[in-house]
Amino acid sequence: MMGNAAYPLVLEGASMKYPALAYAVVVLASLFPRTGLASPPTGKPGVKKESFGTLPDGTAIDLYTITNAQGMEIRATNYGGIVVSLRVPDKKGNLDDIALGFDDLKGYLANSPYFGVVIGRYGNRIANGKFTLEGKEYTLAKNNGPNTLHGGLKGFDKVVWHAEPFQNHGGVGIILTYTSKDGEEGFPGNLKAKVTYTLTDKNEWIIDYDAATDKATPINLTQHTYFNLAGEGKGDVLTHVLKLNASRFTPVDQTLIPTGELRPVKGTPMDFTQPTPIGARIDADYEQLRFGRGYDHNYVLDGKGSDPVFAARVKEPTSGRVLEVYTTEPGLQFYSGNFLDGTITGKHGHVYKRRYAFCLETQHFPDSPNHPDFPTTILRPGQTYHSRTIYKLSTE
Ligand code: GLA
Repeated sequence: MMGNAAYPLVLEGASMKYPALAYAVVVLASLFPRTGLASPPTGKPGVKKESFGTLPDGTAIDLYTITNAQGMEIRATNYGGIVVSLRVPDKKGNLDDIALGFDDLKGYLANSPYFGVVIGRYGNRIANGKFTLEGKEYTLAKNNGPNTLHGGLKGFDKVVWHAEPFQNHGGVGIILTYTSKDGEEGFPGNLKAKVTYTLTDKNEWIIDYDAATDKATPINLTQHTYFNLAGEGKGDVLTHVLKLNASRFTPVDQTLIPTGELRPVKGTPMDFTQPTPIGARIDADYEQLRFGRGYDHNYVLDGKGSDPVFAARVKEPTSGRVLEVYTTEPGLQFYSGNFLDGTITGKHGHVYKRRYAFCLETQHFPDSPNHPDFPTTILRPGQTYHSRTIYKLSTE
């Protein structure tokens, strides 16, 4: 939409009086096609703050619009750290919002399946809402069948964060901070959490998670944006082509709790080591897919490092949009939006039906506090928690 329409307008007026000028415009227009790569930068990076309404108790909530020099835009609120929209160019330079969500705060308060939120204190499931740490058993709320999901009844997705905008040589964004009290949702220790969203001029959305505690506690922070690279509300994601840098996954039981096995994906419909459409085998006769009603599984990433390592790549063929994920985390939950069922009406009146989005949640493995063999999720006093994930957008 952006620039294409402008060229004919210039021509109509100018070509009558100045044919040479009109010719120059045509030549220039052909030299700078409006693609994400060839377009000249569209503006100055910055952060704009405005009101996003109030909570029922009167607390004012803000919305931050973060823009880079390429015209990419992230809108995020300090309620739940929710990324409300993600506007990125397609291969022709047209901007679309590729994140599912709601038009206003009310939508998020009513009944959101974690659209765009920060997840904590523990992303994914803890079996039977119980774990034992340093000889003491802790009990959490069961909000997902017999299990605890995404931090409990009032996880980090439903709290008000303090937000500070920033701009530096690395990019522009906001720093979100929140202190979770000792005993909150049943977890031990006062936990100071910090989540930084940075938007770079390379169309990277970088998320840094930092935390410290005064008692040993499990921690597993992640981000729960629902992506549709064709644009939110524009159909299902079954033709999106996915590659995962994972040769194993953690099989689950019927309640989506890992059995403890690390199973090779080779020869199964779970294998995305080669780029494959999400829908190619999603309804295959495979027990794990029946349990998840599609993909809802933690992949064991092959790369691991203190700097983010390639984890996933998704391409939507029509728009040409490509999303790459890099992370320092050992796991990645690939969720194919199986629980969306058309009962949620999101932005612009769009009805979100089954598999209208996918999530790629970088994380430690589900239920790690009950699996001593999994990489540990226990943070102790004096230690610092740091995790980084990059969602990089491009076109091809
Ligand atoms: C995660 C879970 C899914 C589902 C969604 C939210 O991705 O693994 O099972 O609960 O969150 O609906």
